[in-house]
Amino acid sequence: MDFQLTEEQLAVQAAARDFAQSELWAGVIERDEHQKFPAEQIKKMGELGFLGMMVSPEYGGGGMDTVSYVLAMEEISKVDASCSVIMSVNNSLVCWGLEKYGTEEQKQKYLTRLTTGEIIGAFALSEPEAGSDATSQQTTAEDKGDYYLLNGTKNWITNGTTASVYLVVAQTNPELKHRGINVLIVEKGMEGFQTGPKENKLGIRGSDTCSLLFNDVKVPKANRIGEDGFGFKFAMQVLAGGRIGIAAQALGIASGSYELALKYSKERKAFGVPISQHQAIQFKLADMATNIDAARLLCLQAAADKDAHRDYAKSGAMAKLFASKTAMDASVEAVQIHGGYGFVKEYHVERLMRDAKITQIYEGTSEIQKIVISREILK
Ligand code: CAA
Repeated sequence: MDFQLTEEQLAVQAAARDFAQSELWAGVIERDEHQKFPAEQIKKMGELGFLGMMVSPEYGGGGMDTVSYVLAMEEISKVDASCSVIMSVNNSLVCWGLEKYGTEEQKQKYLTRLTTGEIIGAFALSEPEAGSDATSQQTTAEDKGDYYLLNGTKNWITNGTTASVYLVVAQTNPELKHRGINVLIVEKGMEGFQTGPKENKLGIRGSDTCSLLFNDVKVPKANRIGEDGFGFKFAMQVLAGGRIGIAAQALGIASGSYELALKYSKERKAFGVPISQHQAIQFKLADMATNIDAARLLCLQAAADKDAHRDYAKSGAMAKLFASKTAMDASVEAVQIHGGYGFVKEYHVERLMRDAKITQIYEGTSEIQKIVISREILK
């Protein structure tokens, strides 16, 4: 097995690292504190090709592989997990699905602008009563001939207020259960569509999350993705890929925490020596480094599976399950190594610890990943 990255993959990794250090690091504490959406930073990410990395150049994308995407996600997430969740949703849940299943007209109209960051996208599956239990969609898309009449509420939508295009999951034929679900492309500004107030979150505070409210929104039939009733499969497929992106985000939070803790442990002295010379700290660093390497291997395995067109539902879920726990553990330990300094904002690790938690919740909780993994094992 070849564990070497290609020159192109290394170049993407270096570009993402440079961008994160030079453009994201300086303002990240302020954006977190004031829940400020990173509009300028996202615009630059679009210009640099980070928002449509895996899309074909024909539609303005980077034509890159999933391994490169994972490497870039890790580097951006080390510094600013708010930017990386915006990047992840746009790449995995919106652009990837549109390229794979959208019509040529949909790709020309939406994808070409989503890949460059001219506009950003959102994916709307969760509802007040349908989170993990995703088949229980209460939002309805009633078939009215040449349009669907969309009614309902979506919750916890990343890029909720800032997106221009939303892929909305809704029930058309309740008697068919999940086989009666469709995904519709909804544009901001369509009559009857409103966004709710921005949520005040524990972490990833720079990204905007809100509810979406649909009241008799007329969505043209041309905006449906795939055949009638394909919506749930579409959602499951984009989420399976999205989990690789969130696994890489969690990996970045873990490795960012570790790098800060390692640096601090060499600088901070206690009992006459740098704290890195105390075994209590060495054991923590050893555990962090080992788990981070294991998480990275799982992320790259899942990405390699996707690139080789192998099934990646299980490897992606495993990567997300393990990397998100690693993010949580490593960021808690990074705070512990920093002692009191870890508890204040200037040292960054308290933010990484708060950001880590969501990686165990969104795009399927850790418990959902275990359901996906065990079903694959047992089938
Ligand atoms: N690819 C294609 N099809 C798939 C699939 C996949 N990876 N996984 C499931 N399916 C299909 C199944 O084959 C089945 O189709 P058929 O009946 O036609 O064979 C259909 O989907 C239903 O599957 P299940 O019977 O397994 O469905 P279930 O109700 O038991 O639920 C679940 C499965 C894994 C729990 C699923 O509901 C799930 O993933 N829930 C979590 C949802 C989630 O991740 N929400 C996050 C919201 S998005 C988000 O967080 C984005 C953000 O803002 C960052």
